Amino acid sequence: MDLKLSTLLCLTLLFSTILSPALSELCNPKDKKVLLQIKKAFNDPYALSSWNPKTDCCDWYSVTCDSTTNRVNSLTLFSGGLSGQIPPQVGDLPYLELLQFHKQPNLTGPIQPSIAKLKSLKELRLSWTNISGSVPDFLSQLKNLTFLELSFNNLSGSIPSSLSQLPNLDALHLDRNKLTGHIPKSFGEFHGSVPELYLSHNQLSGNIPTSLAKLDFNRIDFSRNKLEGDASMIFGLNKTAQIVDLSRNLLEFNLSKVEFSKSLTSLDLNHNKITGSIPVGLTQLDLQFLNVSYNRLCGQIPVGGKLQSFDSSAYIHNRCLCGAPLPSCT
Ligand SMILES: *[C@@H]1O[C@H](CO)[C@@H](O)[C@H](O)[C@H]1NC(C)=O
Ligand SMILES: *[C@@H]1O[C@H](CO)[C@@H](O)[C@H](O)[C@H]1NC(C)=O
Ligand SMILES: *[C@@H]1O[C@H](CO)[C@@H](O)[C@H](O)[C@H]1NC(C)=O
Ligand SMILES: *[C@@H]1O[C@H](CO)[C@@H](O)[C@H](O)[C@H]1NC(C)=O
Ligand SMILES: *[C@@H]1O[C@H](CO)[C@@H](O)[C@H](O)[C@H]1NC(C)=O
Ligand SMILES: *[C@@H]1O[C@H](CO)[C@@H](O)[C@H](O)[C@H]1NC(C)=O
Ligand SMILES: *[C@@H]1O[C@H](CO)[C@@H](O)[C@H](O)[C@H]1NC(C)=O
Repeated sequence: MDLKLSTLLCLTLLFSTILSPALSELCNPKDKKVLLQIKKAFNDPYALSSWNPKTDCCDWYSVTCDSTTNRVNSLTLFSGGLSGQIPPQVGDLPYLELLQFHKQPNLTGPIQPSIAKLKSLKELRLSWTNISGSVPDFLSQLKNLTFLELSFNNLSGSIPSSLSQLPNLDALHLDRNKLTGHIPKSFGEFHGSVPELYLSHNQLSGNIPTSLAKLDFNRIDFSRNKLEGDASMIFGLNKTAQIVDLSRNLLEFNLSKVEFSKSLTSLDLNHNKITGSIPVGLTQLDLQFLNVSYNRLCGQIPVGGKLQSFDSSAYIHNRCLCGAPLPSCT
């Protein structure tokens, strides 16, 4: 190529990038406007200093855009620096698929109602914040949700039964809040996929609904609540459960007759009021974790499988359990 021509081309390229940033800007102007409103609503925090109106919003920290439409599809605000409530403008990013606020201790107020408008949302993750109020019913209208995480907040009230209508849910994490009331009966029948259910560290009370006998879940964590009565419906030979944690509740049922599926790898029942004995069926499983301590169990620990591979702390403080790894039954 001719030297003059190539210089000219270079200069043209240089000037076009300097003089008209709009040509290279991918960000949709509507999305940019909304993001700047969000920044303003948070009082221009240092955490959002990369949100400079002169630059492409698809390059901003915490923001990503879809590679074909260039619409903002995720907003992930981690690790502090934001205070106040989630601004209503988050509902005006119609292509958002992931919305996450994590480790924001100064984030307060309710789960913003305008989130109801985000019909494309696949993941809503609000965790380790001081968001309060109830788990809103409108979340059940966000049919594309696969991951709903509201863990480690200050949420109260009861769990809306409508959440079982979410057809694509893989994970429902409501653990570590101040939720009260019962586990909804509807959780026995999720309308689509069955999510892993983390409800631990709340103040849930009453019986576990018998409808959960129909539920084929992989992971359940109901630990550290005030659940009472029977929990045997969670188990069964045909279940697919791998990890079950029911520890630190007020559960009261006879373990002797409970049958366990081969899929179970981790079972924590510590600190309940469980009676009966440890069923021989447990020797058939490839258990990696077992803890039945602090219950009202009796009789000999069956010999075999993994049952003797756990130390005595997995069995201590029962009414009259005996045999390895506890002292022998004389
Ligand atoms: C929360 O707010 C307090 C008081 O304004 C401030 O000292 C602290 O740094 C904030 N924390 C975070 C993680 O933003
Ligand atoms: C909620 O705020 C309190 C202080 O107001 C703070 O100690 C606590 O860590 C916050 N919770 C979370 C999960 O950040
Ligand atoms: C929901 O997901 C499906 C499948 O990925 C997609 O075709 C549809 O457009 C999504 N709906 C919305 C409102 O984004
Ligand atoms: C947590 O919620 C309770 C009401 O349930 C409220 O009194 C308290 O101030 C909230 N804590 C924070 C740090 O926002
Ligand atoms: C388990 O499944 C088998 C075969 O699918 C069926 O015959 C049996 O009735 C089921 N048992 C229970 C307790 O549901
Ligand atoms: C538990 O069930 C077994 C088997 O049916 C029975 O022998 C035992 O007495 C029951 N234990 C209690 C405490 O109800
Ligand atoms: C079983 O749980 C008890 C009570 O929380 C705990 O002290 C013990 O260390 C646990 N043992 C095992 C093996 O998990």
